[in-house]
Amino acid sequence: MKMSTSAAVLSLLALAKTNCHAWSTAPISATTTTAFKTSRRFVSPSSIAYASSSASSSRLILRSATVEQSSSSTTSNYADPSRYLLDHPNNNVPPHIAALVGKGLHLKPNHPIGIIRSKIQQYFASLPHNYAVYDAEDPIVTTTQCFDDLRIPPEHPGRSPSDTYYITDTTLLRTHTSAHQSEHLRSGKSDAFLCAGDVYRRDEIDSSHYPAFHQLEGVRLFPQEEMVGAHGLTGEEWTSSPECQVIASHLKETLEGLMDHLFGETEKRWSEDYFPFTTPSYELEIKYEGEWLEVLGCGVIHEEVLSMSDRADRRGWAFGLGLERLAMILFEIPDIRLFWTEDDRFTSQFSEGKITKFVSYSKYPPVYKDIAFWIPETFVENDFFELARGIAGDIVEKMELIDEFTNPKKGKTSKCYRITYRSMDRSLTNEEIDVLQEELRARVEDLGVEVR
Ligand code: DAH
Repeated sequence: MKMSTSAAVLSLLALAKTNCHAWSTAPISATTTTAFKTSRRFVSPSSIAYASSSASSSRLILRSATVEQSSSSTTSNYADPSRYLLDHPNNNVPPHIAALVGKGLHLKPNHPIGIIRSKIQQYFASLPHNYAVYDAEDPIVTTTQCFDDLRIPPEHPGRSPSDTYYITDTTLLRTHTSAHQSEHLRSGKSDAFLCAGDVYRRDEIDSSHYPAFHQLEGVRLFPQEEMVGAHGLTGEEWTSSPECQVIASHLKETLEGLMDHLFGETEKRWSEDYFPFTTPSYELEIKYEGEWLEVLGCGVIHEEVLSMSDRADRRGWAFGLGLERLAMILFEIPDIRLFWTEDDRFTSQFSEGKITKFVSYSKYPPVYKDIAFWIPETFVENDFFELARGIAGDIVEKMELIDEFTNPKKGKTSKCYRITYRSMDRSLTNEEIDVLQEELRARVEDLGVEVR
């Protein structure tokens, strides 16, 4: 039986985390109730679920826009590859990634990513509080902004060059929009803001992972007079205080309202999570057409994040969500690569303010090629994935490890990967793929592997 596009997209997203978050690695000392998560990819601990109501949907009366635009809405200055391709020993940005920066998909009114971004901003504009909007910030940030200010420790896997695009040893392509939290907190200009932008991560290759994607961050501080009882509290004293509960409830209610605004009234469940920059931390899942889908991470901002931003006197919440994931669900877009295509059979389907189902214009046949090699101890899988995308571009649809074994005598490990090549706009020939596969076989030796 043929699966409908909607069912196919949902089951794909229910299983996968679309470019999921790197930060859920609890420090050894963490005494959180969540599972101790060690991998970059986190498994959601769904042990703690709250049946939640859609309390805030009724609040959605559009007022005159209270969201103010606080940055010039352009990202075109960033579309200069020479900003990213520096001759620095730590620079690991390949030309095909540099070419993606500055496309500004989130600012295109007729693009699914732009449509979702404005729908979210529209929701916040309808709330009785002013949220400043930043959506054209420089995607180059420092390690301090992206990690240290957020309590992400130096040894965290998300900081390693196998996962992150470094420009120099201290500057990088932001891996999340949380990288802008501290500067906005510190500036003191607003006590609530939204911040959207393109983010970059070295990751696996399949239909829900792409090295560039988009996030939207939200932060809200509470008036000092509402937090008087919490003055000076830290650690558990703070997290168990009524004031912390007030913030967590407000956060949940606000985000439930957002989900109803995007998806219509929908069932939701909350689980505890771990992020170094929030405590307590939560993840929100929604039930959409019968599938539980994780949609965002959030929490009460960690007191140390606030004090590092010279805001020790304030308390508040933060959340972050991936725009591709929401767009894939709402527009039924089956492959994350489609967001980047300039084929007008894709781009002409969408218009400002409207959520419409994507009509697939093609499913050209795939070409499969396997490659097997002995790996050195230093082998980094993401280097191999990136090499393939560097050679063949977006026609690399998927790369999967299909076999792995260790020869006990030689003490060496062999890995075999299956590469699915498929174009979204034309049929590929076996001959043209052979040429690319040959180039990959030759160049993969630069990673120290021995092709079998
Ligand atoms: N920055 C996180 C990520 O990319 C998402 C996130 C989680 C943002 C919790 C937040 C937050 O502001 O409170 O994985």
